[in-house]
Amino acid sequence: MRIDKFLSHMKITSRKDAKKFLKMTPLLVDGKRILDPSYDVNLDQESIFINDEKVVYKKDIHLMIYKPVDYLSANHDTRHQCVVELLKEPYVSYDFKIAGRLDLDSEGLMILTTDGHFQHEITHPKSHLPKTYEVRLDHPFKHEKELIKGVMIKDGKDNPYLAKALALKSDGFYVNIIIDEGKFHQVKRMFEHVGYTVLNLKRTKIGNLSLGNLKPGEYIEIEKEDLYD
Ligand code: URA
Repeated sequence: MRIDKFLSHMKITSRKDAKKFLKMTPLLVDGKRILDPSYDVNLDQESIFINDEKVVYKKDIHLMIYKPVDYLSANHDTRHQCVVELLKEPYVSYDFKIAGRLDLDSEGLMILTTDGHFQHEITHPKSHLPKTYEVRLDHPFKHEKELIKGVMIKDGKDNPYLAKALALKSDGFYVNIIIDEGKFHQVKRMFEHVGYTVLNLKRTKIGNLSLGNLKPGEYIEIEKEDLYD
């Protein structure tokens, strides 16, 4: 990997400022001072020291996790247990970002990633990544057409927008719904709009990635491609 890319990946300095950084700061690769930002470092074999301190390369990691009910979609909180706190070694020291939050009382598939670009790719409205939710309602569902056509609801900033289901399958109190946005309380608000209360909400799929056999609180490493294959 180029040393300027390494510095930017490790959030030490931007690629743009790498040249200046290398001039000002002693960075040694296997004992040799590096000044050229295009220098290729072999991360498996060579060791990097900055200001006499060893810098260990951490590659980006992506996890899918089953967020249990009553866990907050956050890294830390003073009142609630948080989804990131479910992680054990070797993942505890990583700076995970949450891609696609779930409400405190919702459960299911969530992606944690150290890669800000990947998080953005998953959550940005323009990426239109389909997400599947299983919901249990307070009474049997009969408003399929309305949700497919779309309902006007409000987002987190109270701005109205048309929320549509891409697909919907119902069996009495249970509905499987696919949407390709992720606005504030979107699924609950869509059902509320047509007269139902969502009693349970579980996200089972994001893109091509399924919850599978994961149990609440469990997680596994994934590759970016798993979302799109
Ligand atoms: N829609 C909701 O209303 N809640 C969630 O947690 C996720 C989607």
